[in-house]
Amino acid sequence: MAIIFHEKSKEFHLHNSQISYIIKILENGHLGQLYFGARIHDRDDFGYLLETSHRPMTAYQSEGGNFSLEHIKQEYPVYGTTDFKLPAMEVLQPNGSRITDFSYESHRIYKGKPGLEGLPATYTEDDEEADTLEITLTDRLLGMKLILLYSIFNKENAIARSARFENSTRDSFDITRAMSISLDLPDCDYDWIQFSGAWSRERQVRTRRLEQGIQAVNSSRGHSSHNHNPFIVLKRPTADEFQGEAMGFSLIYSGNFLAQAEVDTYNVTRVMLGINPFTFTWRLDPGEHFQTPEAVAVYSKDGLNGMSQTFHRLFGRRLARGQWRDRVRPILLNNWEATYFDFNEDKLLDIARAAKNDGIELFVLDDGWFGARTDDHAGLGDWYANTDRLPGGIKGLSEKVEALGLKFGLWVELEMVNKNSDLYRAHPDWLLQTPGRPLSPSRHQYVLDLSRPEVVDYIYEMIAAILAESKISYIKWDMNRSITECYSLALPANRQGEVFHRYILGLYSLYERLIEHFPHILFESCASGGARFDAGMLYYAPQCWTSDDTDAAERIKIQYGTSFCYPVSSMGAHVSATPNHQLFRHTPLETRGNVAYFGAFGYELDLQNLSDKERETVREQIRFMKQYRQVIQYGTFYRLQSPFEHNISAWMVVSEDKKTAIVGYYKILNDVNCEYRRLLLKGLDPNMAYQTESGETHYGDELMNLGLITTDPSSGQPASGHPEPGLDICTDFWSKIVVLRGGC
Ligand code: DGJ
Repeated sequence: MAIIFHEKSKEFHLHNSQISYIIKILENGHLGQLYFGARIHDRDDFGYLLETSHRPMTAYQSEGGNFSLEHIKQEYPVYGTTDFKLPAMEVLQPNGSRITDFSYESHRIYKGKPGLEGLPATYTEDDEEADTLEITLTDRLLGMKLILLYSIFNKENAIARSARFENSTRDSFDITRAMSISLDLPDCDYDWIQFSGAWSRERQVRTRRLEQGIQAVNSSRGHSSHNHNPFIVLKRPTADEFQGEAMGFSLIYSGNFLAQAEVDTYNVTRVMLGINPFTFTWRLDPGEHFQTPEAVAVYSKDGLNGMSQTFHRLFGRRLARGQWRDRVRPILLNNWEATYFDFNEDKLLDIARAAKNDGIELFVLDDGWFGARTDDHAGLGDWYANTDRLPGGIKGLSEKVEALGLKFGLWVELEMVNKNSDLYRAHPDWLLQTPGRPLSPSRHQYVLDLSRPEVVDYIYEMIAAILAESKISYIKWDMNRSITECYSLALPANRQGEVFHRYILGLYSLYERLIEHFPHILFESCASGGARFDAGMLYYAPQCWTSDDTDAAERIKIQYGTSFCYPVSSMGAHVSATPNHQLFRHTPLETRGNVAYFGAFGYELDLQNLSDKERETVREQIRFMKQYRQVIQYGTFYRLQSPFEHNISAWMVVSEDKKTAIVGYYKILNDVNCEYRRLLLKGLDPNMAYQTESGETHYGDELMNLGLITTDPSSGQPASGHPEPGLDICTDFWSKIVVLRGGC
């Protein structure tokens, strides 16, 4: 059993071969946090870790005692009973008090890991993969229960946590704060890394030293957002991509979140993640319970790559689900940047035919196929085909596309309406809206109240009818605005603080029904690009449109940042036209492909507009991806050199048997007469001889210690004005892929 309970010292030691997590039942019955880190030997009593010295200006739990929560590291702290940091939870009681006192009542240790009702969560395929500790705490004055759930994975350095509140009393309570994880660390010698940005520049890596006080990222937009990601990292300042201590914290949730580290004046760091308390209250009536989303903490001694690889395995194989989880992803062509709203069936079929000709496997019809949707002012909500554009409807078009030998995919944005839609005209009260206040439009659209089961049912029936009658293999599920004036006409005043979370629960239930009834469909989530690239979505949709920005140079950064938590197989990555539609920049077709390979690969253009030479390059790219996508999407991914710090960046993947490795090497701007360059590779078998495509052979230890020579034509370029043939290449936005085959 990976969880030991020491009766006498009242300590729980959760461990696997790599990590230890130690909890103690404190003398007041609260839970103390003793340790999270590399595996250490078990002992009967780690009580020496508790601080009990007397300090001035400290409140103690009893007269003459020396027990103060202010100086004890805790598991799920509360405010107001000797601790003054921000708490993990807060409950507003009928008498107006917010003071609580949850103390140990019982615990249960069992094999496996439970699911969370209505919420996404990591899972096990057999009970040997994880062990779970459930600790029940009770506030004896209120009679309310709090159950803390901890699961430790036996083969991954990861702990999953969540909390559940149960009200078996005769009173009603308002939960105003309920974090999924809170962890007190004994020092603050960490760099904090967040993944922030905006539309078209999501998940940029931002690093700073932890300081006394609060540092946090959050969303109050109704989705996890382009702006910040529900994932943060604490790493030792001496740690880097390859060595040293790094901890990642991910919230498996798609709505408003808070990820925060508070460092107190004794340099204790309290990390917490959960639903954003700013936009949240939850009324718990007698007999009701409330379950928080799950958070996952990963510990790595092998730097940031070690941490990311754990997340990739865990989220790729034990969070993502369904028939597509382990399958290489189809190479698709999406018509959005090829046509925008300007298409009819003939035009689409011409694009699809060219795609088929070049080796594409899946044709995706994006926005504009339904209702009165000829631009973004109308039609959202009316999920029936526009037969002026598509005479045979989606059924007819999907059959024609399949007859070409392609699979067919469809775009939807089920959570929204335009006011110019039949759905809005029939049900104006189905929008989220605050009585008496104007509603703020965004992209001319409004948000359906998914907290209402009848709205979810209606949307389900509409879209299920199309899915049932048509040949649809893939759905791109978009969401193109943040939520404003959040209020549900169906809920009473004292439950309005629940709407944001109920919306997400409604969204999850809609996804769940669709994947249950249409298990063959590959879902790709999307929210104006990457505004909902979060672990919650991965449970329903194993891939996500990473960003609306398809410029290769920008995509290197976006995919690099995204890879800190999310697996390569989850990142939708497409080659688009030049000049790029977001930055109006020209980059070589080869580089666009070389970046997009490291994801769920596809195209976002009309291949008919390319020259014969470019079409040949596209065919070559598709051949390459078909040959190597298993390794790229499911191999071990290493970040080698950061685009946030260098003009040249690089990453690589290595197959499980280490016989194939693929390196992506990218240069933003040309340079002249530069050094003779090498790149140290990772993850190879040191004793295996690897052959490059040019026929050179090098041992793995050579490539990892001496490095791969990466010098390009810009090294030693002759004096300007006299370029030699073959050396007159400008390496702006230049890249190369190196395939290494071992054991040949
Ligand atoms: C935003 C998405 O990110 C795009 O790829 C495209 O689907 C548009 N929406 C369509 O409206």
